[in-house]
Order: sequence, then C-alpha cells, then structure tokens
Amino acid sequence: MPGVEGITMRKAAPADAPFIGRLYEDGLAGGHYRSLGMPAAQAIEAMIRQPRFSVASGADILGVFAQFVLIEQDGRPVGFLAQRVDGTLDPGVVELWFFSIVEEARKQGIARHVLHTMCEDMRRDPRNRGLFARCFTPSTAMVHLLKKAGFRKVRSTRDRTDWQLRWRP
Ligand SMILES: CC(C)(COP(=O)(O)OP(=O)(O)OC[C@H]1O[C@@H](n2cnc3c(N)ncnc32)[C@H](O)[C@@H]1OP(=O)(O)O)[C@@H](O)C(=O)NCCC(=O)NCCS
Repeated sequence: MPGVEGITMRKAAPADAPFIGRLYEDGLAGGHYRSLGMPAAQAIEAMIRQPRFSVASGADILGVFAQFVLIEQDGRPVGFLAQRVDGTLDPGVVELWFFSIVEEARKQGIARHVLHTMCEDMRRDPRNRGLFARCFTPSTAMVHLLKKAGFRKVRSTRDRTDWQLRWRP
C-alpha cells in the first residue's frame, strides 16, 4: 500500500478543472456535495480563474473567496480540497468546503495527512483562528476524520452536521 509517501499539494490551475470536476461529480452522486448549478468542471474552472466572487444568500450578496488545492502523489492527481471564506463565518475562520480523494487511493491515510499538514500551515499565520466543515449524512469517513483531528460538532440538522476546530478564540 503506497500510504502517504510522495504526497504534495499545490494551488489548482484552470487545467486541473476537468479532474477536479469529475471527482466533484462523484462526491455529488454519493451525497457528499450539493449541485453547483452547472457542470462541476465549468463552475470549478471559473472559481479557479476568479477566486473572489459574489453569491446571493437570502437578501444579501456575500463576497466569497475560494481557493482550490490539488493533491498529488508522485506528481499524479489523487484528490483536491477547496477552502472558502465568506461573510457568514467568524473572522479568521476558513471553511474546508470540499475535500475528496479518488476511490483507489482511499483508506491509506492521505486525507488525514493532508488535513494535518493544512492545519499546521494555517496555525502559523496569526490571522487564522480556525477551520469550519459541513458534512452531509453520507459523509461518515469525513466525520470520522474531523473528530480524530479534534473538530467539535457545533450544529446539526436532519441532513448535516457542522464542525469547527478553533486554535485561537
Ligand atoms: C473523506 C475522504 C476524503 C477520506 O479520505 P481518505 O484518504 O480515504 O481518508 P484516510 O485514509 O486519511 O482516513 C482517515 C480516517 O478515516 C477512516 N475512514 C476512511 N474511510 C472510511 C469509511 N468509508 N468509513 C469510516 N471511516 C473511514 C480511516 O480508517 C481513518 O481513520 P483512523 O485514523 O481511525 O485510521 C474520502 O473518503 C472521500 O473522498 N470521500 C468522498 C467525498 C467526501 O465525503 N468528502 C467530504 C465531504 S464533507
């Protein structure tokens, strides 16, 4: 089993959008994500090209910042994550918006390694105060991962749970 040897992360480029889009559609089919309202690769390419955008939320227009990260093993893509900041989160809290590893690379500790590395990097910047994640009911692996990383449940509804890890109040 390859494990976490050779795992690297880099900012996603527009050319990564087809790979990320396919993985997003898998997550959508599994009930882990919600529709982006257009083909995933197209929406994701647009967000990679323009990380700052606006979304309508109720009566408000929210300024959103999204950053897509490609996860590679020995230079081959094995997953992606997206971080998002918007006006609904506490200042300094970043949302782990999407997080997927390809089926054939799962259960080798890659997601745990990536989450740990990301948290270590974020903690070094004093402006970052914590991470937020929302999981829909089918995402049992993600919930397990978050709990083990020290996230605490902050809200739950019929179809989802919200989690937070705070390292600064
Ligand atoms: C969630 C996901 C990213 C985890 O990736 P991964 O690389 O397989 O996870 P890891 O191998 O690092 O496993 C981390 C922990 O979760 C556990 N785990 C992995 N798959 C699991 C599963 N299907 N059910 C329960 N626990 C599981 C592992 O045993 C490990 O636990 P341990 O630390 O106690 O040994 C991956 O399952 C995935 O892409 N799922 C579909 C998309 C998704 O659910 N995204 C999250 C949306 S909020």
